[in-house]
Amino acid sequence: MTVAKINSVFQGRSLLAEKDFTPSEIQYLVDFGLHLKAMKQNHIPHKYLEGKNIALLFAKTSTRTRAAFTTAAIDLGAHPEYLGANDIQLGKKESVEDTAIVLGSMFDAIEYRGFAQETVDGLAKHAGVPVWNGLTDLWHPTQMIADFMTVKETFGRLKGITLVYVGDGRNNMANSLLVTGSMLGVNIHIVAPESLHPSQEIMDLANGYAAKSGAKPMVTADIAEGVKNANVIYTDVWVSMGESNWEERVELLTPYRVTMDMLKMTGTPDDELIFMHCLPAFHDTETEYGKEIKEKYGLTEMEVTDEVFRSKYAHQFEEAENRMHSIKAIMAATAGNLFIPAVPEI
Ligand code: CP
Ligand code: NVA
Repeated sequence: MTVAKINSVFQGRSLLAEKDFTPSEIQYLVDFGLHLKAMKQNHIPHKYLEGKNIALLFAKTSTRTRAAFTTAAIDLGAHPEYLGANDIQLGKKESVEDTAIVLGSMFDAIEYRGFAQETVDGLAKHAGVPVWNGLTDLWHPTQMIADFMTVKETFGRLKGITLVYVGDGRNNMANSLLVTGSMLGVNIHIVAPESLHPSQEIMDLANGYAAKSGAKPMVTADIAEGVKNANVIYTDVWVSMGESNWEERVELLTPYRVTMDMLKMTGTPDDELIFMHCLPAFHDTETEYGKEIKEKYGLTEMEVTDEVFRSKYAHQFEEAENRMHSIKAIMAATAGNLFIPAVPEI
């Protein structure tokens, strides 16, 4: 008897940017991440990648993304292999295309963290296996699945939630939140000085999704207007990996630091308000950069106060744990043999 092959929705696909998937597929990955979290907590095995080899390429440093990919791969029964910037020939002695062909012939999937989006796009073009973007200067898509898992498990819903991102409105996190929130019906407010507002291209993309999902994105320099009725106050570092313009950012973004006063300005009841941060965070002087900034500019905290970071509102560590469950969902769906013939429309 011949059995008709039914295509599985995610199988063999790369996640290079959020827009590679439909809003319904992104929602499915959020829910699948929550499902895998429950499986792990209940000690139910889920070795969907048994016998597979996964390459983890990191041209930038990482704690969460590297740890999440490694532990997720092992839980799924796969073998992860870390290939750091100084371990391989990529860029210095070998092109993206040649590297992709070689790695794709040995590994079943590839994670890449680096600078230019073109690099991860190029790997995906030539590898012949799924490629996952572990962060570029433009997008941080795996972070999005964890972030919206965190929002959903806190509030029990996504549609109608207002998530306010305060800080550098042009970085990878702002871009990804704006687009993904708009896909999922979450109102994303970007609160940033005008010179750090998102590009028109990112705004157009977000507005296109928002018109369908009903989300109401907002970009403003006005803190009071932007944080009003927030359910989530979200921030990120003022200077991203690959940048070094501390002086400019300290001057521009100090008024945008997340403080208890800012949380009060939301007017949101306590049980409907949380703080999130993708991490790492500068909330004290316990880091080399933190000490240097204190010496140069007299600041002991940057994007968020230590008080907020340690408050009852803070959910950044649940969010960090969710990186592992969400990355597991992405890996299993795209590189495993899961039978997912269709995803429910949102
Ligand atoms: N949030 C995040 O991507 O953390 P790492 O840089 O530690 O991977
Ligand atoms: N915007 C930050 C995010 C870190 C997870 C960076 O790119 O450094």
